[in-house]
Amino acid sequence: MYAKSLFLISILIATLQVCPQVAFAQKTDSIRLRSDNIDQVLQVMTTEEKCSLLVGAADEGSGVPNVAGYTRAIPRLNIPQTVLSDGPAGLRLSPTRPSSSQTFYCTGFPVGTLTACSWDPALVEEMTKTMGNEVREYGVDVLLAPGMNIHRNPLCGRNFEYFSEDPLLSGRMAAAYVRGVQSQGVGCSVKHFAANNQETNRLENDSRISERALREIYLKNFEIAIKEGRPWTVMSSYNKLNGEYTQQSHRLLTTILRNEWGFEGLVMTDWGCKDSTVKAVKAGNDLLMPGNQRERDRLMAAVESGALSLTELDRAVRRVLEYIVKTPRYKNYSYSNRPDLQAHAQMARRAAAESIVLLRNENGALPLNGSERVALYGISSVDFFGVGTGSGFVHTSHVANMQEALVAAGFTLDQDLADYYRHLYALQQDKERMEASAIDKRHRPEPEVTVRAIERQSQANDVAIIVLGRIAGEGADRVFHDDFQLTAPERELIQNVSLVYHKVGKRVVVVLNIVGVVETASWKDLVDAIILPWTPGQEGAHAVADIIKGKVNPSGKLSMTFPVNYMDIPSAANFPYRWDMSGKKGERRGVDFTPYEEDIWVGYRHFITHGVAVSYPFGYGLSYTTFDYGQPKVKANKDGFTATITVTNTGNVPGREVVQLYVSAPAGGLEKPSRELKAFAKTKTLMPGESEKLTLTVSAYDLASFNESTTAWETSAGTYVLLFGASSTDIRQTAHYKVKKAATWPIAE
Ligand code: BGC
Repeated sequence: MYAKSLFLISILIATLQVCPQVAFAQKTDSIRLRSDNIDQVLQVMTTEEKCSLLVGAADEGSGVPNVAGYTRAIPRLNIPQTVLSDGPAGLRLSPTRPSSSQTFYCTGFPVGTLTACSWDPALVEEMTKTMGNEVREYGVDVLLAPGMNIHRNPLCGRNFEYFSEDPLLSGRMAAAYVRGVQSQGVGCSVKHFAANNQETNRLENDSRISERALREIYLKNFEIAIKEGRPWTVMSSYNKLNGEYTQQSHRLLTTILRNEWGFEGLVMTDWGCKDSTVKAVKAGNDLLMPGNQRERDRLMAAVESGALSLTELDRAVRRVLEYIVKTPRYKNYSYSNRPDLQAHAQMARRAAAESIVLLRNENGALPLNGSERVALYGISSVDFFGVGTGSGFVHTSHVANMQEALVAAGFTLDQDLADYYRHLYALQQDKERMEASAIDKRHRPEPEVTVRAIERQSQANDVAIIVLGRIAGEGADRVFHDDFQLTAPERELIQNVSLVYHKVGKRVVVVLNIVGVVETASWKDLVDAIILPWTPGQEGAHAVADIIKGKVNPSGKLSMTFPVNYMDIPSAANFPYRWDMSGKKGERRGVDFTPYEEDIWVGYRHFITHGVAVSYPFGYGLSYTTFDYGQPKVKANKDGFTATITVTNTGNVPGREVVQLYVSAPAGGLEKPSRELKAFAKTKTLMPGESEKLTLTVSAYDLASFNESTTAWETSAGTYVLLFGASSTDIRQTAHYKVKKAATWPIAE
């Protein structure tokens, strides 16, 4: 017996020597990943397993095919594959699957730019709760959103995915977005970190930015979103920042993001890691997306050679594991594949309506009463853009257009005109199918309507509504001609319709269904009203109808400036459209590198401080009612101050008002913009005569600027002027706040 045991033991020892991997795996197979045993799991993972977990993988039968990316499963340790999908205007799924007769449409919500115009974080959070529910119920773990790069220039092709030219508004909106989505037990990935402000040559372009502008403008919004939203993940961008790829920047991904701001989640690369995989991991990326075998091999080789230490490897693996245990996949959540799309569509409509900006409303041209006969012009009245293109596109079951929305709202359309556009749109679609590549998708050719026809229509109808559209998306920036500027046929349409309708005393309304800022100064005075819904999601056309009919009183305000001329924009001199793409590679200004020469003077910071006239200022938006601002009260506390101000609805209809608090710093410290947004608040719906007291809180750190010479944030002592505005230029009340002692905040080294 004893001899037999000895014999068996010696065989076992021999097997272990020949095949240690097998033995190791057998020994550790009993360990299953849990949220409280990550250390133990790290100990039993092989190097190969660890490297494979840091690199995205193909779909291993997740049940959610064709999405942006997946992590790798390690079944023996109970590590499931997780699923990551775009974002940000809703979940991006392929609507059909070969194996199923079911459809998998998602809700197209209003884009980031429009929701930022709500100035209402609570609304955004409510909206993204439904979005997060869709993410969870379709079996996805992370929504690759929100996009939150600063609107540096209106021609950036992805601005619609982003929120604002202002870092505070952008950061607060992103934080609300994240809170809403993540309340559903799924994650967000705030993107693209950082300084990814153009699409031209986006994989290689080097954003050259001063430390101060970087800190105050291009990182500040992320800082706020990280601290107030606590996203599960952050996505490092494609571009370079001051000569270094952001995804390889230890300073950005570790020193600033983690050490300084306290981010504890996972960092993933944007979709296409650069050659230096190892550098990316060392810098602080934990997940290389979408991932390939070469990257796994590089990591393995680096661990073997010691170029990547086990500590560095484990740090990243730990973060991936910490992420995985939070996911619905890990928790075996049994998703329904049947989110309540009808309820979510209602949410999308309400969010759009509460965010739409009324730019112009001469002599109370709007609202209409609903019984009018409407002549609806513009090819975009049938081809209405719900969201932009690229990864920001959402496959919705339908996108309402303005024709159907106005009819649903009870208006009578000029039938001949409606048929004309429907017919031409169908023809254009046929043409597109035949010559797919030849069509310029930024806007559809605007069909001609003769003056004779317009005259006839002006007799038969009560009001003219013109819808103009612009589309853009990932991979390309917009251009100046026929995009920022209106096209000649669009101008002609506005001119002719305005002239003819005004002759017979009838109103003309323009609806801007656009993905980015367009020129308005040269034509706005021709028309009576302008509504700006941006690309408002699948139900957005109904939301526009709600505004037109006065069912919803507009309360949106611009999250960016509309300039008079493109060249008035401080970054115009350094944005790609002006530059020759055929120059020598590496030396093309605006293409290979983009100097942010405007520094901190982005948007209203420039226009207001330097006295440059604009078409519509930052924070601007009209209402069907009026508001009175009471005397503000300012109370210092140990960390800054709290201001209260009472807003009263002094008009005849219910409405909501956004109060914006701008601050002017005392002279003597750093040179600063003459006013900067430091807080904002929105009233509930106030009945005529009703008041609400709003509270705005600002800390001493919020008042700080970044001093490059001391490499620290600083708030100078002195008296700060507090400007309570209905927009950045419509200041209704002022107050003062005294900082007795200067304060500084060092940055992490
Ligand atoms: C985009 C990201 C997107 C990713 C996955 C990239 O090209 O820049 O915003 O999340 O693709 O689709």
